[in-house]
Amino acid sequence: MKILAATTAPLDLPTDLLALACGDDAPAEAPLVAAIDQALGGSLRRAISDERFRGKPGQLVSLHTQGRLAASRVALVGVGPEPRGAPETTALLTFAGRVARLANATGAVNAALVPPAALAASAPAVSSALALGLELGSYRFDKYLSEDKRTPPSLRNAQLLLGDAISAAAAIAAIERGQRVAAAITRARDLVNEPAGFMTPTRLATVAQEIASENSRPMGKLELTVLGPEECAARGMGLFLAVAQGSVEEPRFIHLAWKPAAPRTDKRIVLVGKGVTFDSGGLSLKPSDAMLDMKTDMAGAATVLAALEAVAAEGLPVEVHALAACTENMISGRAYKLGDVLRSKAGKTVEINNTDAEGRLTLADAISYGLELQPTAVLDFATLTGACVVALGPYIAGVMSNDDALASTWLAAAQAAGEEMWRLPLPERLAEQLKSEIADMKNTGERWGGALTAGLFLKEFVGSVPWIHVDLAGPSSTDKELGHVAKGGTGFGVATIVEYLRRVSAA
Ligand code: BES
Ligand code: MN
Ligand code: ZN
Repeated sequence: MKILAATTAPLDLPTDLLALACGDDAPAEAPLVAAIDQALGGSLRRAISDERFRGKPGQLVSLHTQGRLAASRVALVGVGPEPRGAPETTALLTFAGRVARLANATGAVNAALVPPAALAASAPAVSSALALGLELGSYRFDKYLSEDKRTPPSLRNAQLLLGDAISAAAAIAAIERGQRVAAAITRARDLVNEPAGFMTPTRLATVAQEIASENSRPMGKLELTVLGPEECAARGMGLFLAVAQGSVEEPRFIHLAWKPAAPRTDKRIVLVGKGVTFDSGGLSLKPSDAMLDMKTDMAGAATVLAALEAVAAEGLPVEVHALAACTENMISGRAYKLGDVLRSKAGKTVEINNTDAEGRLTLADAISYGLELQPTAVLDFATLTGACVVALGPYIAGVMSNDDALASTWLAAAQAAGEEMWRLPLPERLAEQLKSEIADMKNTGERWGGALTAGLFLKEFVGSVPWIHVDLAGPSSTDKELGHVAKGGTGFGVATIVEYLRRVSAA
């Protein structure tokens, strides 16, 4: 999509769709709304009152202008009241996403957006968020639909009417930042939406290869290492390989590294993503309903690989590694068993009391591999527990950490990126549940607090390095569309990782 900032007065702009963000509960009084209403002979006010439009999030009024305005359609999109001065990223993303949806539903090729008022201070952030929301709102996963059932998006050109709040050059840079993040999120969504029969560990490694070869730039290079089962065995990754052994699909350990040509910091960040391309539960077999969405169990891997694509495209001056231990969790005569005792890469032995708690096993060995890179921080992303979804619902990720400073930097980045995350504790007392009679640990605790015992299990493998664990079992996919988020994989986490790394490399 071509996205530009424009200074044209909204009333004079010839476009298919003129969309205004409305946060007021008296939208008809806003000067621009009043001016449009006058040009339309009072029909906009009537629509506002008939449809009880109050600018609430989710509300929308859309009118054809019948040739009375340069724009052929006008829409008011509710975004809720302006919170504390700065417009919230989520509201901007949702606004732009809904505009894209409306444009695509009405066959609009061009659209112009008027963001909420009072944004002068953060015009670049607003421009980025609108560009991101527009691109994501046009996302669809339709590659398996027959040609005649596909509805490709009509929207091709968008103008952001920011007045003189931002210079032309700053607007272009900000819009490009948003579009690069959009491309990475689109990549992550596609990976999650692909069926498990196609998106196998081997296939994921091929995609990592594509990302690496498409993104070598003067600002730095992406280096890819892929380990097969023998190489993982040579490195002692007994937990990862045990999960993999029940499947006929070979596991792949993916290591994608971004090496900037001129790093601006000594920090070295390791990102770990859970890459279970299908989770049947193993011998602790899931019921059919619970298995239905388990192609999405590699969302963490999709997030970290896609994030590196954005990092390379933006040329961020910080060294970043993405690691994903990719495997299926299947049943077969070779599957790992309850009661098995496994040796981890770190040397600790683990007794298996539930083969469905496989994610933490794959992550533990990946974290140990990551520690050998001598990182200054390790961040892991995993669709790890149903318990986290019970605790925080489907839209909020759980964050656990051994480092308060890192946790607050991370949560601030999430807030700025418009992704909802909430910190959960790691109560030492629950760690007792992971004690085993015959091994150093068990892999599963009791039912209550299941998200926390999963976090505590991982904590045993991170040592003293500052670490963040993000359980994104809830927000990594959705069955309800909302603004910029389509049904299916959401690409959750990519935007926050990029924002966090921008802050790390600017500090
Ligand atoms: N992949 C699942 C977690 C999950 C559940 C992700 C729902 C997305 C939606 C994970 O491997 C799992 O099975 N976790 C178990 C842990 C239990 C056995 C301790 C769970 O949550 O039930
Ligand atoms: Mn599982
Ligand atoms: Zn799983």
